[in-house]
Amino acid sequence: MLKGLKIVIAGGTGFMGNAMANAWAADNEVIILTRQSRKAVNNSYGKAYFNSSIRFVVWGEGKSANWIQDLEGTDILINLAGRSVNCSYTKANREEIMNSRVSATKVLGNAVKKLQRPPALWLNASSATIYRHATDRPQDEEMGEIQNDFSVQVCKEWEKAFNEIELANTRKIIMRTAITLGNGGVLVPYKNLVKYGLGGRQGSGRQMFSWVHIDDVCRIVEWFYENKEASGVYNLSAPHPVSNEVFMQTLRSKMHVGYGLPSPAWLLKLGAMFIATETELVLKSRWVLPTRLQQEGYVFKYQDIDAALGSLV
Ligand SMILES: NC(=O)c1ccc[n+]([C@@H]2O[C@H](COP(=O)([O-])OP(=O)(O)OC[C@H]3O[C@@H](n4cnc5c(N)ncnc54)[C@H](OP(=O)(O)O)[C@@H]3O)[C@@H](O)[C@H]2O)c1
Repeated sequence: MLKGLKIVIAGGTGFMGNAMANAWAADNEVIILTRQSRKAVNNSYGKAYFNSSIRFVVWGEGKSANWIQDLEGTDILINLAGRSVNCSYTKANREEIMNSRVSATKVLGNAVKKLQRPPALWLNASSATIYRHATDRPQDEEMGEIQNDFSVQVCKEWEKAFNEIELANTRKIIMRTAITLGNGGVLVPYKNLVKYGLGGRQGSGRQMFSWVHIDDVCRIVEWFYENKEASGVYNLSAPHPVSNEVFMQTLRSKMHVGYGLPSPAWLLKLGAMFIATETELVLKSRWVLPTRLQQEGYVFKYQDIDAALGSLV
């Protein structure tokens, strides 16, 4: 448990930031850097969504630089900022997905360099989607292969921007996070599919689904803080990834829905066009293992999908 720390979360108004901020707000000073006013955040998410002790500070390029002083003496800086990838990859959207991540990282880096007391630890988001479509073997920090499709390119540039920031007194960690399961995020559309009878396998169903429970993400952040040797790249993914078919089956069983219509790849492509998203989000085989976390002694609270979905559905 973190206590008495100053924690700043950039892009913390979203799904992961909300879980983290609320988890630590009672015992720590928590600040969220957002492009929105507190009122706008409350209007979008509802007043009770964030613990009232959390402070919201407006930041970003083109804004007054007052927010920078709020970073002084931070114990943990977490950067989650980035435009959602749940959209069709038009040229404009691709640019925004890429630029929002790279420039938020650079803006934070420039700010941190101006501080007298820089953060002790800086965790920058990345994604486990940086590894290739893997159907033959799992990918980890050492043996994983990185290819060149758009989402991989985004992660590479995002990590490069972070790696280029040289800080003598700040420990830096890249969090290559798998699909995160919690109350919100991607579980919401998956639950809707199941509810409306469409919760069968997607595509062949054999593509791997690497996931991590949001409680583990928060606990891993705490573990990073406490383990002063931890630095560099970590995969935040549960030790037992499953196939898409097993994931959908488990979700149906937790929701007590007997049958789910399978969605072949062609139907998903057609559907994705209508709802302006990308089939890659469900068809890419993400087979990722948390080798470093396990070798260095982190014990996952949610190791298998049955327990994880049981806690959330
Ligand atoms: N959720 C997952 O399963 C998952 C898995 C792997 C990696 N990740 C990565 O982890 C990060 C957090 O995930 P999340 O699910 O919490 O995302 P989220 O709910 O979409 O929240 C991201 C936050 O980024 C800020 N943002 C949006 N567009 C921006 C822009 N153009 N420029 C700067 N900031 C912008 C927003 O904050 P304001 O509007 O308040 O500024 C938003 O609340 C993301 O970068 C995501 O790619 C997520």
